[in-house]
Amino acid sequence: MILLAPSILSADFAALGTEVAEVQACGADWIHVDVMDGHFVPNITLGPPIVKAVSAHTSLPLDVHLMISSPERYIADFAAAGAAVITVHAEACVHLHRVVHQIKELGLMAGVAINPGTPASALREVLEDLDLALVMTVNPGFGGQAFIPNTLRKIRQIRQWANEVNPGLRIEVDGGVGEATAPLVAEAGADVLVAGNAVFGQPDRAAAISAIRAAAEA
Ligand code: DX5
Ligand code: ZN
Repeated sequence: MILLAPSILSADFAALGTEVAEVQACGADWIHVDVMDGHFVPNITLGPPIVKAVSAHTSLPLDVHLMISSPERYIADFAAAGAAVITVHAEACVHLHRVVHQIKELGLMAGVAINPGTPASALREVLEDLDLALVMTVNPGFGGQAFIPNTLRKIRQIRQWANEVNPGLRIEVDGGVGEATAPLVAEAGADVLVAGNAVFGQPDRAAAISAIRAAAEA
């Protein structure tokens, strides 16, 4: 089953409560929250207090994507703020295995993300332990960028490994995902689709969500 996770990066930040409630009513499955520190990526967004505030306006799982250096410093804070899934970048962790288990010990789903320039092998040694692998389909930092087609090869590779060692693994894609690219990523093996601009950037969010879901499931 394909899950759709609208990214609040493209929402109206002054109206986050109504924005997340709206996409929940429009059929979203998860709410994707992009945390950026101005160090790991060239942009700054939000921290645990905003995640906590958002959690009061939706019953959907909060899918927290940490684009921050040394994320182990903040995992407990994001868990306490209401995260259901925490994803860290392989490139940002010196002790990736330790960080994955830090997330799992808090009872949350653990994810590892890789940038377009990072090989799939960067998460191979922790694949058995993961709930989710996030293949970045743009370079992280900003919404509204163009999908990078070479990333499809990595999605296929990770799905093949997962079939062997972790059949329940969710594979998430993030960046440039919309009606046109949803069939490509779904065919390659992704089953959690993040969409920022393609949902929050559209006037009719319900139509946008159904169109992406239909395209992915076709
Ligand atoms: C990119 C973020 C994404 C972003 C996707 O750095 O991790 O979640 O919001 O935005 P779109 O879907 O507009 O490419
Ligand atoms: Zn993201």
